Amino acid sequence: MVALDGPSGTGKTTVARKLAGRLSAGYLDTGAMYRVVTLAVLRAGVDPADGPAVAELARTTDFALGTDPSAPSVHLAGEDVAAEIRGAEVNHAVSPVSAVPEVRELLVARQRRIIGEVLDEIGGIVVEGRDIGTVVTPDAPLKVYLTADPAVRAARRSAQDTAAGRQSSQAEALASVDRRDRLDSTRAVAPLKAADDAVHLDTTELSIDQVLVALSELASQRG
Ligand code: C5P
Repeated sequence: MVALDGPSGTGKTTVARKLAGRLSAGYLDTGAMYRVVTLAVLRAGVDPADGPAVAELARTTDFALGTDPSAPSVHLAGEDVAAEIRGAEVNHAVSPVSAVPEVRELLVARQRRIIGEVLDEIGGIVVEGRDIGTVVTPDAPLKVYLTADPAVRAARRSAQDTAAGRQSSQAEALASVDRRDRLDSTRAVAPLKAADDAVHLDTTELSIDQVLVALSELASQRG
């Protein structure tokens, strides 16, 4: 099992999926879980800053996540919401929602269950998020913490948005990435931070393929 953490725009999602494919492992995008709950919060007209209301909604949200790295699906009450959870509204509201302790408790329990099932079924999984190495699976044999310069992360995010047909400028992407990082790394419960025993990899100057080579080597040593 590989635990991959770090802020947004480090290439985490792309490399996690590719690495899982290479290793014939499963893939779990924990950020997608926080995003789908956030979408449910927004659709219900609940204020993302209203902790008790958000917690109550999270308990009753019916969502499903696929773990196949070649086609990771996200459904909310049976509806395919894979594209919608990447939109600006969810980007803006996801950090307050994911700072609610009950939401984290619920999703972490679900993440551990999925990880256990996939490990039993196919023997390997790559899990990406913010607290995988520190909270979700602190005993993962390989923990990697990806970083990159904020300007480079914003440029990547903006390019991804444009490719997906969403309007984006680098300035907006930088502001959004900055805000999310600040909120994610300063929250009280499970803030974004590297595990003490994580391998740090700065992807600022690296292509996706180079990151993949580095991770594959690490995984073959101790994944
Ligand atoms: O990885 P992604 O950018 O999709 O994550 C969206 C948000 O979900 C993060 O900004 C963070 O607020 C939250 N998150 C989290 N813990 C995780 C994964 C994501 O709090 N393990």
